[in-house]
Amino acid sequence: MTGTTGPGADWWRQAVVYQVYPRSFADANGDGTGDLAGITRRIPHLVDLGVDAVWLSPFYPSALADGGYDVDDHRDVDPTIGTLADFDAMVTALHAAGLKLIVDIVPNHSSNRHPWFQAALAAGPGSPERERYVFRHGADGPPTDWRASFGGPTWEPVGDDWWYLHMFAPEQPDWNWDHPDVREDHERTLRFWADRGVDGFRIDVAHYLTKDLTGPLPTQAEIEARTVPEGTHPFDDRDDVHEVYRSWRKLFDEYDPPRMAVAEAVVPTHRRPRYASADGLGQAFNFDLLEADFDAGRFRTVVEQNLDLARAAGSTSTWVLSNHDVVRHPSRYGLPTGTSLPAWLMSDGTDPAADEERGLRRARAATAFLLALPGCAYLYQGEELGLPEVADLPGVVLQDPTWTRSLGTAKGRDGCRVPLPWSSSGSSFGFGPDGGRPAHLPQPPWSGRFAVEAQAADAASTLAFYRAAIARRRELVTGEELEFLDSPDGVVAFARPGGWVCTTNFTTSAVPLPEGEVLLSSSGDPAGGGLTELPGETTVWVRRAG
Ligand code: NOJ
Repeated sequence: MTGTTGPGADWWRQAVVYQVYPRSFADANGDGTGDLAGITRRIPHLVDLGVDAVWLSPFYPSALADGGYDVDDHRDVDPTIGTLADFDAMVTALHAAGLKLIVDIVPNHSSNRHPWFQAALAAGPGSPERERYVFRHGADGPPTDWRASFGGPTWEPVGDDWWYLHMFAPEQPDWNWDHPDVREDHERTLRFWADRGVDGFRIDVAHYLTKDLTGPLPTQAEIEARTVPEGTHPFDDRDDVHEVYRSWRKLFDEYDPPRMAVAEAVVPTHRRPRYASADGLGQAFNFDLLEADFDAGRFRTVVEQNLDLARAAGSTSTWVLSNHDVVRHPSRYGLPTGTSLPAWLMSDGTDPAADEERGLRRARAATAFLLALPGCAYLYQGEELGLPEVADLPGVVLQDPTWTRSLGTAKGRDGCRVPLPWSSSGSSFGFGPDGGRPAHLPQPPWSGRFAVEAQAADAASTLAFYRAAIARRRELVTGEELEFLDSPDGVVAFARPGGWVCTTNFTTSAVPLPEGEVLLSSSGDPAGGGLTELPGETTVWVRRAG
């Protein structure tokens, strides 16, 4: 039976989703790495926060060449993270608490330890085993000069003048999506998790799967100049990738309610609706707010564009300020406009120094703006604590392949992946049991100041603000419409169904407080107590009189 109209089928359209990066969330067994039992234990935190769903980044067996996005076996749990029984217990507990679960699927590549890749290496050139990946002959060097994400070439030699393609690290060989085994195996994986009660899937690099390397291939310079026609690029955002998603949609719709999916598709804006269409994955990330400066005009344009795009796809928009791949937004907003983030990280966060107070004020204003929008809000673990980036991790502890692939010239993403502080003291600030092994990435001494425990007791904390904002949103959101209102320069105001208005003052000076009952404020008391004007870099939600 298909469940496309069953109760709750549309839960994802207006959800607040909380991303858990499992190795850094909560460590129940004290080995220094977060685990599934840790997530289960911390469900009360998610309930108090008021989110609707968890998106769980990869927890599959992996050598961690790319933080778990190098998957050895898509249908198992990494032993350092737990077991399938722990997974089932976590799903049961999440569902009992009224939370949905979205898991990450990594279909562009496997790890180089995957049994099929090992078999391909062993079987040698021309073998059927090699057909499941993208092997090419190149007597004079790699078949193309393409550059991989994280640095270095996309081709890795395996001897006898043979090479395999990896769009990311060499430990992440790309699958050959023309091969029926690859398609069938992924469908098996999707069913495996859907049958275990998973409510949805986040599809990693959804724009890369299908490839056509038969024709004359463009050079790296031609790719960067974007001279390759859209839709027929050898590996990026090809039209035929949607055949895969159409078949997955049929599979998702066999479940009741249908399983949702969200594409991580880094494509030109106008190509995004293809990934979000109802006969495809159904929803797609947009990272436009994440990439925008804290600027009224830019925020408004991003919202207008993305609501149009979502409408064109019959979907809802997604909104993101932080995730496991980017510098945390309180730090970004505390830096002067135009700061190069990779260079800032290489200076250990000293050049220039971030203005922590301002960054956090803006971060909270942007969050209240985002949570007032129609669509699905994706939050990243620790943003509810206002955590800044840990910018001064020394090279020797870095795990991101960016560090080694760039020969130590770019630090990468570890600074947003440092384990969460739950308590103000203790050997790992409550991440693991006191006296357990240190967290797998070192936690800075200032962690305790941001701990859940410290903030839960403070009515003006960032945690208290997130809880209040999400609770208000749950009460207020009744429709998907939004109407922009006239507002002074540097201020953006929009009305939502039910007679409430979100106003963000992006300037540094106070402006008159919008008329009506203040429902939420991003600065000071989350309930807006005592506000007589709208301070600079602050968002308020107000119920209009009448
Ligand atoms: C996108 C993921 O978000 C990122 O963390 C990962 O490195 C790449 N895809 C490769 O899987």
